Amino acid sequence: MRTLCLYYTRTNTTKAVMERIAELLGADTAEYTDGKERSGVLGYIGACFASFGRKLPGITVKGNPDFSTYDRVVIGMPIWAEGPCVVGKALVSRYGASFPGEVFFVITQMGKADYTKKVKALDELLGRPSAGHVFIRTKDNDYIKDAEAFAAGMTK
Ligand SMILES: Cc1cc2nc3c(=O)[nH]c(=O)nc-3n(C[C@H](O)[C@H](O)[C@H](O)COP(=O)(O)O)c2cc1C
Repeated sequence: MRTLCLYYTRTNTTKAVMERIAELLGADTAEYTDGKERSGVLGYIGACFASFGRKLPGITVKGNPDFSTYDRVVIGMPIWAEGPCVVGKALVSRYGASFPGEVFFVITQMGKADYTKKVKALDELLGRPSAGHVFIRTKDNDYIKDAEAFAAGMTK
């Protein structure tokens, strides 16, 4: 099965999670972005503001992968302000219809809150039910181990 792992990352945690999943699935990876520089404290503040904006930003996927050549897409994104980050939502909204086959969400978060209900909103942006999702806690947790457990549960 040909799998594409897409990820957005501000501080490289979601990137590490998705690269490990891709490694185990033999998948390709590509980073998506809204082009905004969000490092450091100013970047954090910008991300907070972006979370409360109404408009979804424009998205580019680095390397312009041809989605039609994949059987499955796994999308990594962090939680920002109690929900999937605006960059992730923008990707799903903009490209959801062009993702063939199954779509999975890998959602990283710092805390222990349950964001399961927020996946429904992602499915609405996707235009169909996602095939599965996982929440991975990245603070005080072996998140690479959780990434490996998720990958182990997927068809290779
Ligand atoms: C602006 C902002 C808001 C955040 N809000 C939450 C939150 O509401 N709940 C939570 O558990 N983590 C929250 N986080 C933490 C991130 O989801 C977590 O650190 C994630 O693993 C970061 O991934 P990254 O390193 O790939 O950017 C927030 C992070 C940022 C930058």
